[in-house]
Amino acid sequence: MTTAAPLTASPLLRALRQEPGDRVPVWFMRQAGRSLPEYFAVRGEGSILDAISDPDRATEITLQPVRRYGVDAAILFSDIMTPVWVSGFGVDITPGVGPECAQPFRSADDLARLRPIDPDRDLRFQTETVRNLVNELTVPLIGFAGAPFTLAAYLVEGRPSREYVHVKSLMMGDPDLWHRLCDRLADLAIATLTAQVEAGASAVQLFDSWVGALHPEHYRRFVAPHSARILATMADQGVPCIHFGINSGELLDQMAAPGVSCVGVDWRTPLAAARARTGGRVALQGNLDPALLLAPWPAVEAEVRRVLADNAGHPGHIFNLGHGVLPATDPDTLNEVVRLVHAEGRADGGAPEHRET
Ligand code: CP3
Repeated sequence: MTTAAPLTASPLLRALRQEPGDRVPVWFMRQAGRSLPEYFAVRGEGSILDAISDPDRATEITLQPVRRYGVDAAILFSDIMTPVWVSGFGVDITPGVGPECAQPFRSADDLARLRPIDPDRDLRFQTETVRNLVNELTVPLIGFAGAPFTLAAYLVEGRPSREYVHVKSLMMGDPDLWHRLCDRLADLAIATLTAQVEAGASAVQLFDSWVGALHPEHYRRFVAPHSARILATMADQGVPCIHFGINSGELLDQMAAPGVSCVGVDWRTPLAAARARTGGRVALQGNLDPALLLAPWPAVEAEVRRVLADNAGHPGHIFNLGHGVLPATDPDTLNEVVRLVHAEGRADGGAPEHRET
């Protein structure tokens, strides 16, 4: 039996510590799932929540992209709605639509439907999946949870939204109830992330996908304190945290909160600008536009090189997309992207003209 190198020396965990390494790590949000034919072979019919709560299927689906692409991290196959689902609130994930709640959250009475969870009982399937994965993997496993704003957006709107009218009305019209809701959602995130870390996840990502809908001042008042509590709790557990949002260029400085090791950057913000906005305090993850993966290869190749050049060899870079892999993406393209990033990415301080003094 060979002894595997410790995961702490893996490219992903080095990049999260902003340490130089011999390559730029790469993984893809939504690397598992609908872009892979082997996913359909094991997913089964019915709600995705059924596959998530079956440790054998969830383990296999998590491993599929790691085998196929040789990415530098696995991400647990689950969903941001899983803890809300096990809390008994009443949510399903409709294929082609996303999370839907038959009875959206609209008043204080609805708090009773969001009961606290006991991970030992309610998330046993998740703990078993994480343990299976940690036994099999030679790359770090990233655990994750949804952040309070993004979860609240689904609960209050009742479905995916563009305008966030109800959620913004609740925030502004009844701040006390808003904060009580976010407190509950932060508790759910802490419970699920803690269970994942105790079972062996090496890093966690807090998904606040829709937070770019907010003005920075509203983010500061209504959202940041709740996400900060989650991030600080996880940092106390010694686990690196990635904090992700879309359209969040104006929020990056606040999102690089205490306890955050890395912020996700979408394709609208150049990495160099993101690094300036966050004062170099955190690593950066991103930021290829996932839609461009459907363009002809020479264009994709040029974009991969541009993202790497934008980072200028800085050690704290995790190559990823600005958002998840689109279902129509050709898996062979992702293979080529991994190959190119591994061949060309530098994590050693870059060319002399880019080196920081
Ligand atoms: O590989 C991975 O990234 C791990 C798996 C993962 C899923 N959901 C599985 C999934 C992760 C990290 C998520 C997180 C998630 N879920 C987010 C945050 C990331 C983001 O995309 O911003 C959000 C907003 C959700 C909510 C959600 N769940 C949406 C919007 C959808 C898509 C609905 C659709 O069918 O278009 C889902 C369903 C979902 N979650 C699928 C997968 C693979 C696809 C549906 C299926 O197979 O039935």
